Amino acid sequence: MNEISVKSLRSMYLKFFEERGHTVIPSASVFPENDPTVLFTTAGMHPLVPYLLGAHHPAGTRLTDVQKCIRTADIDEVGDPSHLTFFEMLGNWSLGDYFKEDAIRWSWEFLTSPDYLGIDPQNLAVSVFAGDEDCPRDEESARIWESCGLPKERIFYLPKKNNWWGPAGQTGPCGPDTEMFIIRKEPCGPDCSPACDCGAYLEIWNDVFMQYNKDAEGKFQPLVKPNVDTGMGLERTFCVLTGAETVYDTEVFRPVLDKLEALSGKKYGENEAVTRAMRIIADHTRTATFILGDDRGMTPSNVDQGYVLRRLIRRSVRMALQLGLEKGSIAQIAQVIIDEYQDVYPELGRNAAFILEQLNLEEDRFQKTVSQGLREFERLYKNLDAEHTVIEGPAAFRLYDTFGFPIEMTVEMAAERGLTVDTDGFEACFRQHQAMSHAGAEQRFKGGLADNTVETARLHTATHLLHAALRTLLDSSIEQRGSNITAERMRFDFNFPRKVTPEELKAVEDWVNEAIQAGVPITCEEMSQDEARASGAIGLFGSKYGDVVKVYTMGKYSKEICGGPHASNTAELGRFVIQKEQASSSGVRRIRAVLVHE
Ligand code: ALA
Repeated sequence: MNEISVKSLRSMYLKFFEERGHTVIPSASVFPENDPTVLFTTAGMHPLVPYLLGAHHPAGTRLTDVQKCIRTADIDEVGDPSHLTFFEMLGNWSLGDYFKEDAIRWSWEFLTSPDYLGIDPQNLAVSVFAGDEDCPRDEESARIWESCGLPKERIFYLPKKNNWWGPAGQTGPCGPDTEMFIIRKEPCGPDCSPACDCGAYLEIWNDVFMQYNKDAEGKFQPLVKPNVDTGMGLERTFCVLTGAETVYDTEVFRPVLDKLEALSGKKYGENEAVTRAMRIIADHTRTATFILGDDRGMTPSNVDQGYVLRRLIRRSVRMALQLGLEKGSIAQIAQVIIDEYQDVYPELGRNAAFILEQLNLEEDRFQKTVSQGLREFERLYKNLDAEHTVIEGPAAFRLYDTFGFPIEMTVEMAAERGLTVDTDGFEACFRQHQAMSHAGAEQRFKGGLADNTVETARLHTATHLLHAALRTLLDSSIEQRGSNITAERMRFDFNFPRKVTPEELKAVEDWVNEAIQAGVPITCEEMSQDEARASGAIGLFGSKYGDVVKVYTMGKYSKEICGGPHASNTAELGRFVIQKEQASSSGVRRIRAVLVHE
């Protein structure tokens, strides 16, 4: 194999498995559907979990794809030579079809055959599961590797910590795996193995043999039919194949770095600060572009995925300021990314205007306060002395609340000066502030920051009215199929077989506005599911008998089971405006709406 490009690596992989009976399926969304345990799709297997647990997949029992993945656990490490928050994962799956023998032989062929990657077998090593009380030692995989031609000395038996794979959530399909490594340099000693962090072994591919489903109690229940799940990180493998020192030195990032050099007049690599700033902008803008460009859309906010998006953009803006870039540069970088990727991910092209608009809006929002915030930070810094190296909680909270600095940014800026931040104190201020500004509203506080906006609670309340309006005016069998709310807008999915006409939409809008104008108080009662059902409440009934649920009532307009948060009177909602109605999936329609406060 001679010249390789990212494009040819993608297509070579898919074709290889297509020729071996696999159906090529498109990448799923970066937002996991039906999985509240994680914010983003973290691996190719993630969207396939229901099928790995036995559901029938319409494309058959052998699948292959390249999946958009986002992993943010190491977001603060980005800027170093290797960490990325977005990457593409190549994968092939057997849904109860082939198992270890075929999976390993195909991995070996793809890696070593001169028709494919043509890696010298001398440079390959693998690990297999050493066995424990849950699952036996994987002699079978070791035997298959040996029969492929891999000598025993390069087959390492490692424990669960290294050779076991399950999805990011706590439960789900999992099992022992066999990982493939490129040997980059001499092992550091006789005990060196792929588990060693000396850098001799670099993982490029992972074949997981999913034999179990880990249940909520942490027990490993054997699956009726075992599956294969494999994952190869595109960027990293490409980096190894081309002998580049870091992923940022490959063609993956070249166009973006070229653009950054042109915009800043600085050179990538000219010094550590410039290199780091350019890597952060390149990585974070790429991830932000894929989040905004996803067909399931998302805007920056203070909660969940929207908050990660906000952090990515605001950190990029701070780095752009360091490089002396002008306003609007982040969107210019995003345009380069859209151009690079849209033939593989056409959604980026379809949503290009939205991506650029949102990046510019978020940059504008932050630009308004960032300089003042930076000055405020300098002032704090100057007032500290050798004995006082902690930025206090209230100061960090002021940077967040008044100047829009994500707390992680304050922590990072503090670390750059050898300071720390009292994050517990920050959280205490945060909670106190919330308690004062929306007493009674039920809040979430997850991972980063809770959604502290009154507006989100209002939009959430409006979904109840929209739900009721659709059932009253269009069809009483309409049910909510999903919803997504940020502080800026709401999205509501429901079952309905056809387009909703403009006249119907107008009537629905009027109905909701009538309920708002009626100014009815919103009450909440706790009751058993049976009582809730008997009272005529709609919404999701759980499966467990006897569960207590909360029922929110808005006069004659709506009665629905829900967890909150809500406004306290419909009058607070302002004017309800439907912006768009479109198909979401087969038999499911989506309405996007906002609340306007005149
Ligand atoms: N799901 C496995 C991984 O992400 C293949 O490594």
